[in-house]
Amino acid sequence: MAVPECVVDNHLLARCFTTSDEWITQRTGIKERRVSPSTYEFLLRLAEAPDKDAYIREVYIHGVDGKIDAKLTPADLGYEASQMALKNAGLQIDDIDFIVDTTTIPEYAYPHTGCVMASKFGLTSTPVLNLQQGCSGFVYALATADAFIRTGMYQRVLVVGAEMLSPMLEYSDRGRDMAVLFADGAGAVVLRAVDQRSQSGIISHHLHTDSTILEKLSGEIYGNSTFPLVSQKKIDDGRARPRMNGRSVFVQAVRRFKEVMNEALAANGLTPADVDLYLFHQANMRIIDAIAEHAKIPASKMFNNVHKYGNTSAASVPICIHEAFAEGRIKEGDLILTAAFGTGFAWGATLFRW
Ligand code: ACO
Repeated sequence: MAVPECVVDNHLLARCFTTSDEWITQRTGIKERRVSPSTYEFLLRLAEAPDKDAYIREVYIHGVDGKIDAKLTPADLGYEASQMALKNAGLQIDDIDFIVDTTTIPEYAYPHTGCVMASKFGLTSTPVLNLQQGCSGFVYALATADAFIRTGMYQRVLVVGAEMLSPMLEYSDRGRDMAVLFADGAGAVVLRAVDQRSQSGIISHHLHTDSTILEKLSGEIYGNSTFPLVSQKKIDDGRARPRMNGRSVFVQAVRRFKEVMNEALAANGLTPADVDLYLFHQANMRIIDAIAEHAKIPASKMFNNVHKYGNTSAASVPICIHEAFAEGRIKEGDLILTAAFGTGFAWGATLFRW
């Protein structure tokens, strides 16, 4: 895993717009999050600015101190997490047959983050697949990589979830619902073909998408929904920032997490008690608590870190895998269920044995 060094706690956000540590903690369980150095520098200035709206406008026009180049990008985080995954797997990048990256907001509209990351490795022919599937991205990426391995096409696949969401947020009263939730980070795993008789490995994936209510969680930002793609009017009309209907996302997320978890267990003739560890996408603690209560999952069978990192979208599941393993919460032979939900709405679950 890799996260930026800059830590933003709820108190700093409360100096930027109308919110409080108490509100954020109660509604989301988040205490702090990691953000890119550019976001951090901007937030420190914003916290001090006497006229915050004017400062935000100034940054939209001229950047911070006249500069608009990002100091860190999702590919930097993905690259760092990938190096760690390779090291832990005892492999070199040249041993990898295929890379699947999932990133919500890439550095370039194209090529996508997976390609930028591959360039950092100096790769000249390894195929890279770029997925953009929001918070459920990692579960979709795992399923994709697994399918390629099962067909025999590839043996070793690097799967990366790399996110930099803090720069898309609007740190004002208008954008505060989302600004307190999302943050930056990356996680990576190496999937390897194993003997069919092996007791460990991926057991099943369960994926779904319902795109009848797209607008409940969406971001036009640099998309083709407007012409031109980038304009002052887009910014003035508030269409360069992400949008979310928090209530609706909350209700949908809880419902879909429950459904897909039950589906994964039923497909394998299991009950919630059979699972040794649940690694849910770290959207917010209230969503996770609602699922845990429904399935009567004891705290000892859950791993959560949303209080430290906020919602890192497609990076949250692999970050959980990394930290749970590092803390000795995952043992050989453990049955693990991971599930994620996000924009689209798209959601899914993967069941695997470590
Ligand atoms: N600080 C203080 N007040 C706030 C903030 C904030 N950061 N954000 C919103 N409010 C205000 C609202 O403006 C509203 O004020 P009003 O009553 O004067 O209109 C009030 O708080 C209540 O707003 P609600 O949206 O009704 O608050 P709610 O209790 O629903 O909590 C929240 C909002 C935390 C966003 C909640 O809806 C939620 O968790 N939704 C799920 C969102 C999510 O997890 N998205 C992640 C992306 S998808 C995924 O990863 C699963």
